[in-house]
Amino acid sequence: MEEKLNKLLADFTVETHKIQNFHWYVKGENFFNDHLKLEEYYNAFNKYDDEIAEVMLMDGFKPKATLRNYVAGSSIEEAKNEFVKARDVYSELAADFAYLLDEVEEVKKMADDYEDYLVSNKMDMLIEDLSKYIWMIKQLLMD
Ligand SMILES: [Fe+2]
Repeated sequence: MEEKLNKLLADFTVETHKIQNFHWYVKGENFFNDHLKLEEYYNAFNKYDDEIAEVMLMDGFKPKATLRNYVAGSSIEEAKNEFVKARDVYSELAADFAYLLDEVEEVKKMADDYEDYLVSNKMDMLIEDLSKYIWMIKQLLMD
């Protein structure tokens, strides 16, 4: 469980910084909207990072909370650090969020097996938020 939660923390933290990179590098005529939406996402993700680490501490686990550990422990591919079209940003976020949703659901299953309702409940919150983001981005990409 501790290992799985550290992987989740690393993936969410790298994703947070990736979104902030996109917030800076997104380009195009809807920049004002996209820039704001991406700020909303990275603020939400920053809160998730904090909540994952704190739920680990409540459970007596040790979050591997250094930048080095996050990068080494994550499967999320970082942003390319180049100007990027909003549509490409949203496609990439939809894929990342789907990956994170699968991972969160796996953690939830394991937490339920261990009767760890604290973690299970936290995963419910993440499942709800990620599902909403994925649905909304799909609406946008339909156009
Ligand atoms: Fe900003």
